[in-house]
Amino acid sequence: MRFSSMKTYIFFFMICILLLCLHNGWQRGIKYSTYNHQYTSKNVTILLWHWPFSKSYSLKGDICWDLYQVPHCKLVDKHSFFPSADVVVFHNRELIQGSQTLPLDLPRPRGQRWAWMSLESPAHNGNLKQFTNIFNMTITYRRDADITVPYGELLPKEDEGPVMEESPVNKSSLVCWVVSNYMSHHKRSQVYKELSAIVPVKVYGQWTKTPLSSADLLPTISHCYFYLAFENSEAKDYITEKLWYNAYQGGAVPVVLGPPRSDYEAVAPNHSFIHVDEFTSVKQMGIYLHQLAQDKKRYSEYFTWKQQWRVKLYRNWRERLCKICSQYNSLPQHKVYSNLKAWASAENV
Ligand SMILES: *[C@@H]1O[C@H](CO)[C@@H](O)[C@H](O)[C@H]1NC(C)=O
Ligand SMILES: *[C@@H]1O[C@H](CO)[C@@H](O)[C@H](O)[C@H]1NC(C)=O
Ligand SMILES: *[C@@H]1O[C@H](CO)[C@@H](O)[C@H](O)[C@H]1NC(C)=O
Repeated sequence: MRFSSMKTYIFFFMICILLLCLHNGWQRGIKYSTYNHQYTSKNVTILLWHWPFSKSYSLKGDICWDLYQVPHCKLVDKHSFFPSADVVVFHNRELIQGSQTLPLDLPRPRGQRWAWMSLESPAHNGNLKQFTNIFNMTITYRRDADITVPYGELLPKEDEGPVMEESPVNKSSLVCWVVSNYMSHHKRSQVYKELSAIVPVKVYGQWTKTPLSSADLLPTISHCYFYLAFENSEAKDYITEKLWYNAYQGGAVPVVLGPPRSDYEAVAPNHSFIHVDEFTSVKQMGIYLHQLAQDKKRYSEYFTWKQQWRVKLYRNWRERLCKICSQYNSLPQHKVYSNLKAWASAENV
């Protein structure tokens, strides 16, 4: 009698354990489906063929889950994983420079996708003509890439109690610009020249032999009313950390030059930046900036977005690679970039 009640006990105990496991698994599945709308427990294996700029990072443990809560994602960088990899990722820079090559001699496993990855603007991607009918997917900052990896994005602010007044106080410079690679043929250099003839522009960086350490960058920018977030290339969706980090985090209103205003509006709050195209001339813009800085109320309106949004920066290759897994199930079954060069150099419409 005692023995059988013990058995019953153990039996119920086992049932409880089983239910607990099911419950946890289910919760994990729910978490996953918010990314994916599809539950699967199969691991996706992402093989990074070579590290961007030859700088490698640890892939120990379940890195995507541990760092970014992306489940079922196996990130590897050993070529021996090639036969079992679901996605093989190639960073463009090293291919173009010739320090790395595509394993065209290896038989490509059925269903394996090859991904082309680059964060550069078209002008700096080199000649992509050689890459016809090779890649199945693209990983770039562009919104129409298979995996979009922007330099930054906005996330709704969770309720963090009273909103910190990100007040534009103690400004000592009207317009600031940080530039290391000054080229007089860049459109941005022309705009700078015209603007600095009308209003004072404080310039930092290699060009003026006044480089800022990374620790000094944001504090310096915080003393500026406006920051020239001028991209070195004007290309579709090419919006870099000059906006997301330098200007937004530095607390200066960004004056942007890059893709058309509509590209910015698609990813950034309407009244958070000033686009050079809004003005009929650089002179008009200079006058506007000058007047805006003197009108406390109107100037501070450029910061109200911070009550609702916070900036998330993307600066880590592992995070970008983990993103492949969270979107893996929505990738098209079959896709080939028959003309990558044309795709990558798409002009703005
Ligand atoms: C304002 O900034 C300057 C440096 O640009 C600093 O010397 C001064 O103490 C600051 N004033 C206040 C009130 O924070
Ligand atoms: C953006 O703001 C401007 C005025 O600042 C307004 O005219 C325009 O309609 C707004 N655009 C969108 C998409 O909200
Ligand atoms: C990937 O591209 C290769 C080469 O063009 C092609 O043979 C293969 O079917 C493609 N695979 C997928 C999953 O699209």
